[in-house]
Amino acid sequence: MNEEMRLQKYLAQCGVASRRACEKLIEEGRVTVNGAVVNILGSKVAPRDKVAVDGVPVKEESKKVYIMLNKPEGYVTTVSDEQGRSTVMELIGDINQRVYPVGRLDCNTEGLLLMSNDGDFTVKVTHPSHRMNKVYQAVVAGVPNHFDIEKLEHGVYIDGRKTAKAKAQIISAEGKRALVELTIHEGRNRQVRKMFDSIGYPVLHLRRVAIGNIILGNLPLGKWRHLNPNEVKYLMGK
Ligand code: URA
Repeated sequence: MNEEMRLQKYLAQCGVASRRACEKLIEEGRVTVNGAVVNILGSKVAPRDKVAVDGVPVKEESKKVYIMLNKPEGYVTTVSDEQGRSTVMELIGDINQRVYPVGRLDCNTEGLLLMSNDGDFTVKVTHPSHRMNKVYQAVVAGVPNHFDIEKLEHGVYIDGRKTAKAKAQIISAEGKRALVELTIHEGRNRQVRKMFDSIGYPVLHLRRVAIGNIILGNLPLGKWRHLNPNEVKYLMGK
């Protein structure tokens, strides 16, 4: 830091969490500046100030880190959880830089989750205006027919608003279940589950397999890897 800046911006820049999550940390009284709790948003910090979160000193992060995690079910996509649930941070304990989740997956969804300490990267990947495609594979109860698939593709009403055009394809069907691949570029709350609910085929299991051209591949469940420079360039350039 070369000059005074807002505390939440400084924390995000240091890779503590996203700007919004940092605001929450401040409001929860978990941030101290020179040993005193600062819980007012917009407070400024200067280069000489000593900032800590939960008593742990915050260091400026200069190296940008970009990883992908194959998130298992049962982990929340936050840096900390008030209800004491397991968080994705526990799965990347062996990385020696702070990173935070880029976007979200529900606790009971598995698959591709990007994590980084780069705020610009987070905006590129998650901002709706960038229309980043996200590919999900859902096991659903029942076997949707051609008309059901078309409904998903043309848009269905969830929470009173129609979803944008999507791509849907049945990959396999067995007995009373089908595996359907759905590609969407919006990121509404529990969107995939709600879309399938709206056509009468509840999701039994959900996995995200790609974000844009970045694919999960055969990364084992619960494991992470660094993105390669081409992958980072692609996502930043979108
Ligand atoms: N849609 C969902 O329903 N859940 C997710 O985790 C992601 C997309």
